[in-house]
Amino acid sequence: MQQDIENLKNEITAAIAASDSLDSLEEIRISSLGKKGSVSGLMKGLGGMSPEERKEMGPILNALKTDIANEIGARKNTLEAAALEARLLEETIDVTLPPRERPLGSIHPISQVMDEIAEIFSGLGFAVAEGPDLETDFYNFTALNIPEEHPARQMHDTFYLKPDENGERKVLRTHTSPVQIRTMINQEPPIRIIAPGRTYRSDSDATHTPMFHQVEGLVIDKDTHLGHLKGTLEAFLKAFFEVDAVTLRLRPSYFPFTEPSMEVDVQCSFEGGTVKIGDGNDWLEVLGSGMVHRKVLEACDLDPNVYQGFAFGCGIDRLAMLKYGMNDLRAFFDSDLRWLRHYGFSALNLPTLAGGLS
Ligand code: DAH
Repeated sequence: MQQDIENLKNEITAAIAASDSLDSLEEIRISSLGKKGSVSGLMKGLGGMSPEERKEMGPILNALKTDIANEIGARKNTLEAAALEARLLEETIDVTLPPRERPLGSIHPISQVMDEIAEIFSGLGFAVAEGPDLETDFYNFTALNIPEEHPARQMHDTFYLKPDENGERKVLRTHTSPVQIRTMINQEPPIRIIAPGRTYRSDSDATHTPMFHQVEGLVIDKDTHLGHLKGTLEAFLKAFFEVDAVTLRLRPSYFPFTEPSMEVDVQCSFEGGTVKIGDGNDWLEVLGSGMVHRKVLEACDLDPNVYQGFAFGCGIDRLAMLKYGMNDLRAFFDSDLRWLRHYGFSALNLPTLAGGLS
């Protein structure tokens, strides 16, 4: 009998040692200590024994039961610790791995070109001025020598708002020129500003969108003349197109707010479908300009016999298209991320004259 118990114990101990999972260990527990288990069966046998036998076998069987239970408990701890270890290994996060790339987004070519323009003109001593997109008729037209019934008003394809309670009808500014007026009224000369911003006209095709961008320039001082205008524009266009020299052609033109007025062309070549600014056999119109009309100065309470100045206005979208080789203006405003990823600029790479504009 005692030999049988010894054998059973060895058998169970070996099984416990060999069990490699909590499930198989549980099976061993049930088959030994469970209600119908082998050890429990032996315990039940105590009931049918004589008192002497029971006295001898009782402690032996109890010790067997306790030993098996302890062994199972110890094995369980070992298996649980190993399972935890395995899980920790599996779920390890390697904090030294490089982070997953989250792109910062890119700068829209319009913003890029505006930054480039501001950078160039700040180098020439110009400040950046601003005005509202919703303008009064006075600033957008009248003060710029475009009185009511002036044909230039029709040419602007203006978006008018409903008249307010005083009967005043505001407009979405059709150009950045009203910022000239705001600046001259609010600031003493000498004045050197540029005013980049949004402008609006009721027009839409491959080269026109209802909202577009312009930059205005204004210089007012006592001895300003056309040579200053030409020199300023030359310096600007050279820096903007990043070429050593540009040849300008000033063509007589008409704007109500300048006299004389001219349109400015740059010499260029169209070879292989791309424009090269600087030399060549073609001319590209890039901006409108002129000497500020005395009536405009007077509308701003400046004495035209003391102050003169020049002004210019330029389409930013068109400059961006020319410089960066885009051919459909409408794509600028489609918010197509693929387009932006292709034509956009790094958010961390600000244009500077020293470091390169683009
Ligand atoms: N405001 C004009 C336009 O939108 C552009 C312009 C031309 C602005 C000549 C000027 C200027 O300041 O002198 O067509």
